[in-house]
Amino acid sequence: MANTDYIIDEIAVIGAGYVGLVSGACFASFGFQVSMVEVNAAKIESLQKGQVPIYEPGLEPLLQDALHLKTIAFFHSSKDLFAQRSPEVVFIAVGTPENPDGSCNLDYVFQAVRDVVGAMKKDVVLVLKSTVPVGTAQRVKALIRELNPSFRVGVVNNPEFLKEGSAVADFMRPERVVLGGSDMWAVDRVKALYHSLLHNGSPLFVTDHETAELGKLSANLMLASRISLINQVSRLAQAYGADVRQVESILRSDSRIGSKYLYAGLGYGGSCFPKDVKDFIHLCKEKGVDASMAQAVDDFNDSQKLFFIDDIRKSFPNAKSTTIALLGVAFKPETDDIRESPALVLTEELRKLGYNVRAYDPKAIQNYQQWMTSKNIQGVECFPSAKTLLEGADVAVLVTEWQEFQRLALGGLVRLFKGKKLYDGKNVFTPSQVRGMGFEYMGVGRS
Ligand code: UDX
Ligand code: UDX
Repeated sequence: MANTDYIIDEIAVIGAGYVGLVSGACFASFGFQVSMVEVNAAKIESLQKGQVPIYEPGLEPLLQDALHLKTIAFFHSSKDLFAQRSPEVVFIAVGTPENPDGSCNLDYVFQAVRDVVGAMKKDVVLVLKSTVPVGTAQRVKALIRELNPSFRVGVVNNPEFLKEGSAVADFMRPERVVLGGSDMWAVDRVKALYHSLLHNGSPLFVTDHETAELGKLSANLMLASRISLINQVSRLAQAYGADVRQVESILRSDSRIGSKYLYAGLGYGGSCFPKDVKDFIHLCKEKGVDASMAQAVDDFNDSQKLFFIDDIRKSFPNAKSTTIALLGVAFKPETDDIRESPALVLTEELRKLGYNVRAYDPKAIQNYQQWMTSKNIQGVECFPSAKTLLEGADVAVLVTEWQEFQRLALGGLVRLFKGKKLYDGKNVFTPSQVRGMGFEYMGVGRS
């Protein structure tokens, strides 16, 4: 029998977050019976009504279809799940947040393993979908041995490569499927789930646990380093009066360099790059491996997020009488996610310096407000539109390149903004056009 010929009907996903919910809803659309386990009761309540509590394009219709066809169901715990269903493959997609020392916190992953092993009623394959440090699968296997289950438990790494904002498309058309494991019984079952995607030509890499884990972490380190490197170039471009946008184009035309992840800006954010680079550094240190390359990527990114601060202080020395408008607070467009967004450190720094700060974002403003409450940050006003935000602001800083902001330069800016200077954190405006409208302009690495 070919490996992909296993008939698997039922699967489960633990953690209905950005990654888990996308994976669950996409698998449901392939016709699998998907059970989602989620600890957050409010999230389940909303999902059962067909409402996705996060903003991810294309996800809500998939969820609604799955609810309609009854191919997705939600459970509060693994115990509840196994009392009613018997999935053969269980994906673990719970959060793996960063510890204060930069290492990755695996508490939720291990808890999920304990819960499944304690509740399962037949053989199960556990799939590590969340990004985990190298060595995690072996630790999970050791935990399973300790728990001594009555049934067979396979462990497979299947790292996610989903970009927020295009996660559904990334799931449906993966550039590769990576499976890590030593037990072919388990690997073949996970492979069977990806049958249709593999059939459509997505390449499959079957390897050992450690290589799969390192492959995922290195992909994010590699992409993060490109961003730190182009940001490094942008600083020299600024100093010499060169234009980093044109340098980017020159680089892009070199097939050895490639065309993607070459945009200079205010540094990378999100739930993956910053955390995974720090985890990589931590893993190097644990093994006595020189981590200076990865460390430089991380350090440079931290300072890049505050790239405009020196100029703001010089150009607007009277902080108390200067109102700064943040156009966008999400870490990138098409998401409501603010994790590690440059907007957060900018807000903290500007408030510390005494500036009046205000912000607008089409999707992420609620998360930003919650973050401010959790940090006890006072005196930042949030606005319901770009129009109301810009009226009365002295300075505008574009942090997130939402389409609606990009359109502002086509005349809208003049009508809305009566301030003096526009800082373009994503180099989306044409400097001469903005200056032609009578504003001062500063981008990242543009003369
Ligand atoms: C996760 C991982 O943290 C990250 O390493 C990986 O690369 C991407 O997947 P994400 O899906 O963005 O990130 O996290 P989040 O949106 O926070 O979702 C995690 C979900 O798991 C939440 O809904 C949370 O409530 C749930 N959860 C967490 C559980 O159901 N059980 C737990 O024990 C812990
Ligand atoms: C990333 C990875 O791309 C994905 O494969 C992984 O599984 C999860 O982490 P995500 O964090 O959702 O995805 O977004 P991505 O589009 O990769 O952007 C990450 C950050 O890099 C954003 O802050 C973005 O603004 C920044 N970026 C990206 C740049 O500054 N310049 C670029 O050229 C590209």
